[in-house]
Amino acid sequence: MSHLKKLVFLFIIALMVLVACSPAATAEPAAPAEAEEPAEAEEPAEAEMPAAGLDCAPNCQYSDLVVGFLQTGSEGGWRAANTASFKETAEQLGLTLKFYDSQNDLAKQVAGFQQFIEDPEVNVIVMSPLEVTGWEQVLKDAEAAGKPVILSDRRIDGFEDLYVTFIGADFVEEGRKSGTEMCKMLEGSDSKNVWELVGNVGAAPAIDRGTGFRETAEECGIVVTNSQTANWSVVEGKQVTEAWLKESKDVQGIFGQNDEMAFGAIEALKEAGLTPAVDVMTISVDATAGAFQAMLDGTLNVTVECNPLLAPQVYEAALATVNGETLPKWIPSQESVFFMDDPNLEAIAEGRKY
Ligand code: AHR
Repeated sequence: MSHLKKLVFLFIIALMVLVACSPAATAEPAAPAEAEEPAEAEEPAEAEMPAAGLDCAPNCQYSDLVVGFLQTGSEGGWRAANTASFKETAEQLGLTLKFYDSQNDLAKQVAGFQQFIEDPEVNVIVMSPLEVTGWEQVLKDAEAAGKPVILSDRRIDGFEDLYVTFIGADFVEEGRKSGTEMCKMLEGSDSKNVWELVGNVGAAPAIDRGTGFRETAEECGIVVTNSQTANWSVVEGKQVTEAWLKESKDVQGIFGQNDEMAFGAIEALKEAGLTPAVDVMTISVDATAGAFQAMLDGTLNVTVECNPLLAPQVYEAALATVNGETLPKWIPSQESVFFMDDPNLEAIAEGRKY
């Protein structure tokens, strides 16, 4: 084999060796890797979507906001303080508030919601839901219309992805606190029969306060021997308690899921010859001015606070939302417990805003 042929032959062998040892050759010919798409800027989550027609984002001011607020109705002192918080704070901040009174009627509240979806001026919808269910369709419609929804005061069941955030109390915890205080007051009592006056059926505070109360109360042997809705009202609180008292006076405690219903029960106890806060321990939730007066009068032992002054936090969340910020799904409100036998009760009562 001529010298030249040998050289060419050797060159080819060398070439083949080279190719065989290179990496590309060894790997399974991978499917052509999609060139890694540069990571798309993440789609801002729903909540971050600026509201429809609000192109001032991300530098919108309160004066750019038109808030459609769906209030439950006007069922008592707490609700009056809550409504005042929304109206006064809107004025202070210079935002436009469209206030809708649902008159404690769920169908009216849903109709008001649709109204705000269709109202071209409204850019954020705020709702205090009368009940925990019935919101799927309007929430989807609001999303389709690009209108963020904020829940104020009361939660709903599910659909977290269809509202921005819930700003309000832990109603279960309010119930637990009430149960714990009732246990303390009935310590050593031979029987621990408690009657519960419940809020409107289907409402988050009515469901959750009952759950929380039983969680702690049953630990000390309390038995809830009567439980019925009195729709947050003094009149119904009194009527329901009167009816129970006609049946039996074997009651050691009354848990009013709000102040007004407890006031009604207190009246019924007095008229039945029982001394409220002495013969029968009395606890309410809300801690409105009326509850402080009842404690100062010696007829209410304990009131568990539910803070109605939610508007500043709600409007702050509304502005953050239209400016594209992401918010936690729940922004809890701060609350305390107040006692009839607190030596500073009078001073505390004087300092209260509601
Ligand atoms: O949602 C809060 C509740 O609503 C308050 O405890 C009650 O007073 C009101 O009706």
